[in-house]
Amino acid sequence: MTNLPPTTTTTNNKLNGKVAIVTGAASGIGEATARHIINVGARAVVIADVQDEKGRNVAASIGPDRCTYIHCDVTDENQVKSLVESTVSIYGRLDIMFSNAGISNKGLQTVLDLDLSEFDKVVAVNTRGAAACVKHAARAMKDGGVRGSIICTASALASRGLEAATDYVMSKHAVIGLVRSASLQLAGNGIRVNSVSPGVVATPGSCATFGVDEDHLDEVVEKFSRMKGVMRMKHVADAVAFLASDESEFVTGIDLAVDGGFVIPQP
Ligand SMILES: NC(=O)c1ccc[n+]([C@@H]2O[C@H](COP(=O)([O-])OP(=O)(O)OC[C@H]3O[C@@H](n4cnc5c(N)ncnc54)[C@H](O)[C@@H]3O)[C@@H](O)[C@H]2O)c1
Repeated sequence: MTNLPPTTTTTNNKLNGKVAIVTGAASGIGEATARHIINVGARAVVIADVQDEKGRNVAASIGPDRCTYIHCDVTDENQVKSLVESTVSIYGRLDIMFSNAGISNKGLQTVLDLDLSEFDKVVAVNTRGAAACVKHAARAMKDGGVRGSIICTASALASRGLEAATDYVMSKHAVIGLVRSASLQLAGNGIRVNSVSPGVVATPGSCATFGVDEDHLDEVVEKFSRMKGVMRMKHVADAVAFLASDESEFVTGIDLAVDGGFVIPQP
């Protein structure tokens, strides 16, 4: 059989030597994933965020030899371009872009009472910011001849409606559209584009959105989870590392749900 994988493949060094950018990495899923990316062998990770003190602390704790903090507001295309250029200038290449920075809506945002200035803020970060990250990462990968992997954070709410949070739900549906189109357009360059869709997981961001502490949120998540147990940021980080690695080298254009079965498609 020629299709069998070599028995020497290891799973704990799957990102061996790769260089990654993680946006929104000063907190939550981004921070957890940046740490995990290094744990599974990446040569370097760039922490990109607007929370400078937190971002610098995360970078310092990962280590200056393999981690740099760069201030980047993803709503500003010039800052995204500069983030990518600085990464290539410091580390010589870009293999992985994890476009993860995101915000949730303020207020209920039902369609009847939709505050369109709040809508614009959510879409500017979650949708426009993701498009800028995919665009500039893909350009750097193409120019560098790198068969890179781009992963966006969508959401369990990227494939279903909700009684509230219209702007957030719309912004995440659009991320799936971005992934589907970009993956088609970039496949010929060997660049893959996928997304992960987390269910609710306790992070500083989600705890603030729901106005509860981590223990309380864990209790609620466990109650509504189809899978036994509580979802953790590590579960998302594992999925991102898989999509970033050569283990998924023929996987592109997919949305990988990491939600314990929350959005199992019904026939
Ligand atoms: N936690 C959940 O339950 C959950 C579920 C589904 C999807 N998500 C998505 O996961 C991603 C991470 O969320 P989290 O829960 O870790 O939240 P978080 O608030 O803990 O982390 C988000 C990070 O993004 C940064 N950020 C916000 N605006 C930015 C901007 N304009 N430019 C750069 N960085 C910016 C924040 O400073 C913060 O560090 C988001 O895209 C979110 O929508 C989260």
